[in-house]
Amino acid sequence: MYRSILVFTGLLLCYNTSHAQRHKITYEFPPEMSEPIRVEYLKQWEKGKVLYELNCAQCHNTGTGRKAVVPDFTPEQLKGYELRVSNPKHESDIPETRVTTEELGLIMTFLYYKKKNK
Ligand code: HEC
Repeated sequence: MYRSILVFTGLLLCYNTSHAQRHKITYEFPPEMSEPIRVEYLKQWEKGKVLYELNCAQCHNTGTGRKAVVPDFTPEQLKGYELRVSNPKHESDIPETRVTTEELGLIMTFLYYKKKNK
């Protein structure tokens, strides 16, 4: 009895993780980036991802849940200091008091190295 419950739970877990991974947002660092730098950037990228979800996704993602798509911004669009005042929505919704300059930098790292949508 216990054994079958365990097997069943195991199968459920497998199904859930493989399904979730199909839509997982991932990163792409340049191949010439050295290992220690990559490790550091990955930490920042992960933080930026969380901050993006909290502060930007509601306006910029298309789709929801596992089907959410983060847009591919161009490097020209990813200039944090200009971004804050680039349009009225940003002026009202992402002021310094809500998203600090440091946080905006992390979000830029996330968006910059996010793997491009197909
Ligand atoms: C309240 C809604 C809203 C929020 C929150 C928001 N944005 Fe925007 N964003 C807009 C609108 C509206 C535009 C202008 C139209 C467009 O390009 O979609 C825009 C434009 C942009 C652009 C393109 C700028 C350009 O020069 O073309 C980038 C990049 C961007 N946003 C990033 C972000 C980031 C990063 C965050 C979170 C820190 C964020 N946005 C939060 C609404 C929002």
